[in-house]
Amino acid sequence: MDTIEQTDVLVVGAGPAGLTMAAALAKYGVNAVTVTKYAGTAHSPRAHITNQRTMEVFRDLGLEDAVREAATPNELMGNNVWATSFAAPEIARLLTWGSGPERHSDYELASPSSMCNIPQHVLEPVLHHGAVELGADLRFSTELVSVQQDDDAVTAVVRHRDTGNEQTIRARYLIGADGGRSTVAEQLDFPMLGETDLGASANIWLEADLTKYTAYRPGTLYWMTQPGNDYWVGSGTWICVKPWTEWVLLFMYDPSEGEPDLSEEACIARARTTIGDPDVDITIKSTSLWQINHVVAEQYRMGRVFLVGDAAHRHPPANGLGTNTSVQDSFNLAWKLAAVLRGDASEALLATYHDERQPVGRQVVDRAMKSVADMLPISQALGFAPGQSHEEGQQALDGLFAPGPESEQRRAALAEAIELQNYQFNAHGVELGQQYESAAVAGDGTPWPAPERDAELYYEATTHPGARLPHAWLQRGTEAVSTIDLTGHGGFTLLTGIGGEAWVQAAAAVAEDLGITLTAHTIGHGCELTDPLGRWAELREIGDAGALLVRPDHHIAWRSTDLADDPAGDLEAAVRRVLARE
Ligand code: FDA
Repeated sequence: MDTIEQTDVLVVGAGPAGLTMAAALAKYGVNAVTVTKYAGTAHSPRAHITNQRTMEVFRDLGLEDAVREAATPNELMGNNVWATSFAAPEIARLLTWGSGPERHSDYELASPSSMCNIPQHVLEPVLHHGAVELGADLRFSTELVSVQQDDDAVTAVVRHRDTGNEQTIRARYLIGADGGRSTVAEQLDFPMLGETDLGASANIWLEADLTKYTAYRPGTLYWMTQPGNDYWVGSGTWICVKPWTEWVLLFMYDPSEGEPDLSEEACIARARTTIGDPDVDITIKSTSLWQINHVVAEQYRMGRVFLVGDAAHRHPPANGLGTNTSVQDSFNLAWKLAAVLRGDASEALLATYHDERQPVGRQVVDRAMKSVADMLPISQALGFAPGQSHEEGQQALDGLFAPGPESEQRRAALAEAIELQNYQFNAHGVELGQQYESAAVAGDGTPWPAPERDAELYYEATTHPGARLPHAWLQRGTEAVSTIDLTGHGGFTLLTGIGGEAWVQAAAAVAEDLGITLTAHTIGHGCELTDPLGRWAELREIGDAGALLVRPDHHIAWRSTDLADDPAGDLEAAVRRVLARE
């Protein structure tokens, strides 16, 4: 007979979103079960760009070092190359992911963590191992087959794929982290906005030693655009899986013309043409097809059920935001669930997950879609057009590099088209500048500072409530500590400075009164932490004796620009507001 298992949280799916959720819930001591359909983690590379914010999440969970060890480092990610083949002369290049000298300091100043390139089949085992070490209960080959909810709980039926046996699990909350074909979203009728099947793409995972073509211009993406073979963004994009011997060769195709030939012979032929060197050995490892969608859930929460990751947003890989947004969704929701389950917060806090993350999801799918469209001017500047023969395309390309004013104008158009790619490859503001407005943020009535530079390209630090805490390197004795490291780990943090001792006492009193974790740190000359570079003083936007209250996800909950008349009263009111305990 089917015995009903009870748990507080059931996480469905163990991709980047589900694994992050499992790890965070385990770290916060939540009673949770994670089930996933397949027998193991991802079996192919898929997503790979891992941005600074995601690395900060891994850092908080104690997983950053392991991820970094398995990844290709930022130093080897920079060159984004356009050419007709690896062996052919290069057409254009852009320094990406903050690797160019003009952007490097923006990235370096903004975070203690650097971006890396880690394909999904390498990342997921690291996250899985980390989650299990933290105590997560993770079950493979366990597929959700049905889900329904009532006022008290969610009832899920899962099938053990090894035996075919079904089991019922009752959970107080359920997280749909089950990807782009989410059973949870479908069965519970989560409304979706946007369009599906906007294009189609093929991934060929292969081995080919391209050291001689890439080591001198190390990068993540090499765009091969061949005359007479143009469909949307070129003939094949080479994505580095392992420098410089393992790759994904991605190409778009028009599904109205049928599926592409993915036989070994056809894949090798495409790879060989885009390498341009018949002597390179090629071994095909696997192939897959995927659709381009532009979809975001209108609601991220329905009752006791939440969507995270691709279950909530589906978009093309441009900007590399798929996995990143998924990991960050989970980091936003996990502490809220933990606070509610512990009794630290009322259920109303959970509504802020949708309020904070759905606008981010919408922005991300729109940005990714726009970035794909923004690649068309490159093809146009090269003189490529659909339906062209190889000769016509080659002629157009030759014309691009001919002398004369017309060609010079085309070269200027190409430079402009490459410059536009910064919105895809150096979009630091999109990657790091997420700002929340919700009931889990106690605003101080001040407006958000107006961006001084393009808000998509540049991250601008602010301590406005709702912003991510700015990073600054501080000193604790001989140890360098980031402001980000002082916060998070499942608890609230109060940061103050010289003359802010009353806030430290207030924090202790409020923590005891409300039964929450709230740790205070003082920063300044002679304090627990010092700011010898003066960077924190420059960024904090409050006085020495002011205070910042930081949520477990490193976002600012509330701030006081100076010492208040009643620090404990003000702080308690802010915490109550953020945790919906008013
Ligand atoms: P993800 O899809 O990774 O995981 C879903 C999980 O749910 C899996 O563990 C699955 O087993 C489980 N599951 C599904 N149904 C279930 C059920 N009924 N019961 C139990 N478990 C169930 N993104 C990007 O940014 N750059 C890129 O280059 C690419 N490239 C790319 C290529 C290919 C071929 C694909 C398929 C996808 C990409 N992506 C991508 C997208 C990227 O992979 C995606 O954004 C993340 O994997 C999303 O992570 P999630 O954890 O949300 O879902």
